[in-house]
Amino acid sequence: MRGVLVERPGGPEVLTLADLAEPVPGPDSVLVEVEAVGVNPVDIGNRTDPSWAGLVPPYILGYEFAGRVVETGEPIWGLLPVQGVQYGALVERIAVPREYLAPRPPELDPIVAAALPMAGCTAQQVLQRMPLAAGSWLLVHGAAGGVGHLLVQMAHRRGLRVAAAARHDDRRRLEELGVDLWLDRSEPSPAQAAVDKLGNELDAVVDLVGGQLEPSLPYVRVGGHAATIVDLSGDLELAIDRNIDLHGVLMRPGRDRLYQLASAISAGVRPHVTDTYPLERVADAHRRLEAGRVGGKLVVTL
Ligand SMILES: NC(=O)c1ccc[n+]([C@@H]2O[C@H](COP(=O)([O-])OP(=O)(O)OC[C@H]3O[C@@H](n4cnc5c(N)ncnc54)[C@H](OP(=O)(O)O)[C@@H]3O)[C@@H](O)[C@H]2O)c1
Repeated sequence: MRGVLVERPGGPEVLTLADLAEPVPGPDSVLVEVEAVGVNPVDIGNRTDPSWAGLVPPYILGYEFAGRVVETGEPIWGLLPVQGVQYGALVERIAVPREYLAPRPPELDPIVAAALPMAGCTAQQVLQRMPLAAGSWLLVHGAAGGVGHLLVQMAHRRGLRVAAAARHDDRRRLEELGVDLWLDRSEPSPAQAAVDKLGNELDAVVDLVGGQLEPSLPYVRVGGHAATIVDLSGDLELAIDRNIDLHGVLMRPGRDRLYQLASAISAGVRPHVTDTYPLERVADAHRRLEAGRVGGKLVVTL
């Protein structure tokens, strides 16, 4: 069967289409025919430097996917841990531990379903960590990206008011998804601009970009929340002085998470799939994601 191997860490050119042995599922695993695989920044990170993830070449990337159980034909979606998984989903068939699989919401086709587990579960876990009352103001840095555009939709459905620092090009799309206050990300301080426009402090800030918490903390109210999925860098002393809860979030996969994500789908949350690529063009998908300005998700089809 076909699959895409990383034989040595490096640029997109190291992604190699190969003929691989059929996987044999163990007692707690299920053999899945893969239909589509979402592309994420962590694929690029693990392709370039697998040491963080504990991978040894050759290995296979691809952590979120949609497919069918070979034995029954049941449509499923799945999400694998981004650390320690030597053989990911960029293959025609994969043996997956049951704990990382769940039935796929029937209203989703495989391409849309494959775009959701990683970014959707991450967005959900960020919001779950912050007990915010309806009507609270949440500032999102990186709202136009894979995680961001889903987090905006989820926050909006939870009754939060969302401020988003993004490009001008993304303004309209974000407002349609539920952003109440668009902020130009090129301003010196989008958080200050938010407070100036609102006339009150923010209840919470989420950093999906990196390096955005430190400059935002002065504009978060005493007792508010600040979450990041990228880094906890800079001088965060103000979180002590202002009793701000700091949340570092690493998405944890699991069947329960996929069921929770299915609830969000029932509530109308949808990803924007910007482009699809056949398996033999995974390298082009990586190049596209690395170039930025994707404005949604890229999906590999099998
Ligand atoms: N901790 C976890 O469990 C976890 C889970 C998933 C992802 N992540 C990490 O979270 C980050 C985001 O993931 P993703 O999938 O959403 O990536 P993505 O699809 O590349 O989205 C990132 C978004 O941030 C925007 N952006 C860049 N600089 C910005 C700035 N200064 N202000 C506002 N927006 C800015 C980008 O816009 P342009 O492309 O237009 O510049 C893009 O829309 C990545 O670093 C990823 O590795 C962590």
